[in-house]
Amino acid sequence: MIAELKDKLLNLSDDISLLILGCSNLNSLDDIRINALGKKGSITSHLKNLREYDDVSKREIGSLVNEIKDKINQEIVVKTQFFKKEILQEKLNIEKIDVTLTPQDNDTGTLHPLSRTIDELCAIFADMGFSIVDGPDIESDYYNFTALNIPTEHPARQEHDTFYLQPNNDGERKVLRTHTSPVQIRTMEKIDLENFDEIRYIIPGRTYRSDHDATHSPMFHQCEGLVLGKNINMGHLKGCLIEFCRNYFNAENLPVRFRPSYFPFTEPSAEVDIGCRKDKDGSLSIGEGEDWLEILGSGMVHPRVLEGVGIDPTVYQGFAFGMGLERLTMLKYGIPDLRPFYDSDLRWLKHYGFIPVDNPSLHSGLNGVFS
Ligand code: PHE
Repeated sequence: MIAELKDKLLNLSDDISLLILGCSNLNSLDDIRINALGKKGSITSHLKNLREYDDVSKREIGSLVNEIKDKINQEIVVKTQFFKKEILQEKLNIEKIDVTLTPQDNDTGTLHPLSRTIDELCAIFADMGFSIVDGPDIESDYYNFTALNIPTEHPARQEHDTFYLQPNNDGERKVLRTHTSPVQIRTMEKIDLENFDEIRYIIPGRTYRSDHDATHSPMFHQCEGLVLGKNINMGHLKGCLIEFCRNYFNAENLPVRFRPSYFPFTEPSAEVDIGCRKDKDGSLSIGEGEDWLEILGSGMVHPRVLEGVGIDPTVYQGFAFGMGLERLTMLKYGIPDLRPFYDSDLRWLKHYGFIPVDNPSLHSGLNGVFS
């Protein structure tokens, strides 16, 4: 009986070995393993029927079954390795990389023209010893108006088309700043008069007015400038702004004109125009022709503004200027309409955007807002 069973087991083992040898993939190999060695497998099930045999036979059959199991397991391991190698080889054959092929075009993002303008301004003013600071978009009435010599009933308030926020618990109505000038006040308030010689700041940032057409947007950008020290005069203002205009527009002899104007927070005040030619077809050539284009507002910081922040105007004087960054960008690159600046239209960005030449994350453009 025992000899018969042993024969049966050995035959079975040979059959399984043949199956393993002839099997063609990992899945069918796994089926063979389960059919032979699984809980109800053809080999395993013989261990369950040992009850009818005496102890010696039980041991003999038991060890034979274990031997067969080991042998089959071993064969399966060898076959598995064979398949895995085959799969790898197949992959290597298919997934060839030809390093001699020309690379595919990378779809590189571009810098938003406004980010580029801010970068350029920062670079130009940094060369003249300016540092960059910023301030909050949501301002109190005091910083946006009163401290800038625009008291409550001042007509200049009407011109600003201000966005007011809901009154807070103290009944105070904050505003979305209508210009970057409130940061002048915040900056001057921080001056330590004991250890103070001169400051030169530019303040690029977002500003808001409820105005919307081809050349006005409810959210736009300005860059403020502030220089404060002893004996600062109108000559410094003129020198600084002429230098800026010629650098920004890359025109060494660009005509720059200072036209008397009025701002409540500067006295005297001047608007700055650059020379250009406006052709009948609407095109514009900067630096040529007989026409003038206004590009920024400026003036000597009003003595009343200085007094308001505790600075003695007989000891310190300063000048300030402010310009619209969208306008500057449109003029320099011939962009006719303001609205697409904020549409995130990839075609527009591709057309007017700039490939960043170095690490884009280093650009000072208002991070995250523009692609
Ligand atoms: N804040 C002014 C404006 O928004 C510009 C300006 C700034 C003028 C500083 C003079 C000095 O129009």
